[in-house]
Amino acid sequence: MVGIAQNLCGVALVGSGSATPSQSLSNEELGHRVETSDSWIKARTGIGSRCVIGPDETLVQLSHRAGLSALSMAGWDPESIDLILLATSSPDDLFGSAPKIQALLAAKNAVAFDLTAACSGFLFALVTAAQFLRNGSFRRVLVIGADQLSSWVNWDDRTTCVLFGDGAGAVAMEAVDASQDDLLGYLLRSDGSRGDSLQLPQIRDHLPLVSGTSHQRGGFDPIQMNGQEVYKFAVREVPALLEKLLNETQISADSIDWLLLHQANQRILDAVAERFSIPSQKVLSNLGSYGNTSAATIPLMLDQAVKDGRVSSGDLIATSGFGAGLSWGAALIRWKGPT
Ligand code: ACO
Repeated sequence: MVGIAQNLCGVALVGSGSATPSQSLSNEELGHRVETSDSWIKARTGIGSRCVIGPDETLVQLSHRAGLSALSMAGWDPESIDLILLATSSPDDLFGSAPKIQALLAAKNAVAFDLTAACSGFLFALVTAAQFLRNGSFRRVLVIGADQLSSWVNWDDRTTCVLFGDGAGAVAMEAVDASQDDLLGYLLRSDGSRGDSLQLPQIRDHLPLVSGTSHQRGGFDPIQMNGQEVYKFAVREVPALLEKLLNETQISADSIDWLLLHQANQRILDAVAERFSIPSQKVLSNLGSYGNTSAATIPLMLDQAVKDGRVSSGDLIATSGFGAGLSWGAALIRWKGPT
């Protein structure tokens, strides 16, 4: 691979975008499908409604809209993008959906591929993008986090279906001079030995092929989750990793402008904020309207907070993604915005 920007070892986030499906489903409406209530869901999770992809929408379309919006904010010509990374666990096409987004964006010079790390996917993709930017391989990367878990929950299982929604978010990342690096630090973790507590497993269904040989039918069972195990994992591991990151970067929790966690449960957000004495005004949350959109939560929340003026240029964001795998990660980032 030919390096195109050897002297640019820093990373800047210069644009954001997001898109959500047109259908919204409230807790009350969900109560017509499963035995639950608005008060139970709100008290246990903070979720009030979620968006669900409708018959005329696809994840690629949502991702395209989010990507276009990020390009527009960054002021980028689509042909100037070198890489499109799509973090998703629910692509329209198991062979990869990122190239279809590349085609819709007319980003004809970009290489495009998918990356899967469930709800940690966006953070893992952002860190992956940073490697390409820092080593001089690429100069401009569009990182998209998008998921359509509405297709993969069992809508008759009240313990999971109330949690998830669909959406897409995107960030435009650019190589900059090392002195302007906005990715101040990151840590990533995986622990497959605990993966059983949250899975979207392949169907174990073998069909006869020819005499003496069978094949496994393609397809996936709905999401299976041990909610309490995942909850305990999140409130234990996320603060521990953030603390390690703050120590390693010698950054104090007081200097964090925004806590931007994967939007899984308001109680998880509150517990992490409390651990670092971060006041609630600094905790970004849109769980009330969108629920858990998996790989989309962080860029979707970021875009909304940038567009409504809460996050502004130079703000320090402590972010963490966590979820199936199990996987988790944390990063300290300064938002730059359009230059
Ligand atoms: N409505 C009403 N009652 C319910 C519902 C519901 N939707 N769901 C469960 N209950 C009932 C249970 O049956 C149980 O009843 P019982 O006491 O009679 O047995 C009771 O409520 C309590 O159930 P718990 O499972 O103990 O409830 P908990 O307080 O743990 O909350 C929750 C459940 C919200 C799922 C919580 O455990 C949680 O948020 N866990 C983390 C999940 C998560 O973040 N997952 C996504 C990770 S990201 C990724 O990678 C996709």
